[in-house]
Amino acid sequence: MNKKFITLYRHIIDEERKYPDATGQLSDLLADIALACKVISLEVNRAGLIDIMGLTGTENVHGEQVKKLDEFAHDMLVRAMKVSGHLCAIASEESEDFIPVNEKFMGERPMSKYIIHFDPLDGSSNIDANISIGTIFSIYKRTTESGPGTLEDCLQLGTKQVAAGYIIYGSSTIMVYTSGKGVHGFTLDPTVGEFLLFYENIQIPKRAKTYSINEGNYSKWDSGLKEYVDDLKSANKDTGRPYSARYVGSLVADFHRNLLYGGIFMYPGDTKNPKGKLRLLYEANPLAFIVEQAGGRATNGKERILEIVPLDLHQKTPLFIGSEEDVLEAERFLAGK
Ligand code: AHG
Ligand code: MN
Ligand code: MN
Repeated sequence: MNKKFITLYRHIIDEERKYPDATGQLSDLLADIALACKVISLEVNRAGLIDIMGLTGTENVHGEQVKKLDEFAHDMLVRAMKVSGHLCAIASEESEDFIPVNEKFMGERPMSKYIIHFDPLDGSSNIDANISIGTIFSIYKRTTESGPGTLEDCLQLGTKQVAAGYIIYGSSTIMVYTSGKGVHGFTLDPTVGEFLLFYENIQIPKRAKTYSINEGNYSKWDSGLKEYVDDLKSANKDTGRPYSARYVGSLVADFHRNLLYGGIFMYPGDTKNPKGKLRLLYEANPLAFIVEQAGGRATNGKERILEIVPLDLHQKTPLFIGSEEDVLEAERFLAGK
């Protein structure tokens, strides 16, 4: 735990100094995201007191019921990102197409050299039950020269991310991010309205006895996965079984617990959904960047998540992510070894 009074902005600036050619734009962008998420946190914590609970009555591109808080978080982030002046394109789970950001919109603002993907509100089915939910983001440098961003700018390999992070709206509001030099966690102190450093350079345990998966889908899994999860539940002291099952149903909450304590989170493909449910660009890739920076592993059961070629903004991928030895062991079962 870190007793130093280091704010998120101070930490971001210190991180920026590690990159000699940094212009400060990424630092500003991360600070803008944090500000937008402070506002979302306020609304999440007031949900139920104001009319943003429940459904909007509309469906998103995935055919899912859009919750009012999904929409609020999306609108809040898009507004904050547009005025930041550092983006040429914004892609969101709640928007079928990406939103090109035209420099003219920003007046004299500096050249917009980044693009961002975000899941404005992850775990939204849990909103009304007061279970932790979150925001996930992933930032890339644009590949095109200038002007409003293009789809090409948005469809880049996960290895090209310059920063990624998530904010969890739970018993406290926590922000975890990496800009390529370690993973750092901050807790929002509502009395001063600042995210304060609580955990510098998070490292995920190489192995731990926790697994997270929706076992309601068991009948649709392939045989290797069934064998793996059955093995995790067996009583075998020699192989460190049984493991404990922990599944919140909010990816950010399940991931954050496993990042700190160790464990494996799995959202596999199955006979009904061969690519699973989670999206590559704004769920799997940002968390894969973070977990690798923390010494963990993230694959689709075979290939490294960060090397999956994105062909579509809302492309799905199976996800096996967490403690390195646990993910490697799951892959061996899936390969029938
Ligand atoms: P979102 O709310 O952004 O659509 O994400 C929900 C995801 C993820 O948070 C979670 O891990 C998964 O849905 C849970 O899915 P199941 O209910 O099918 O287990
Ligand atoms: Mn999500
Ligand atoms: Mn979402």
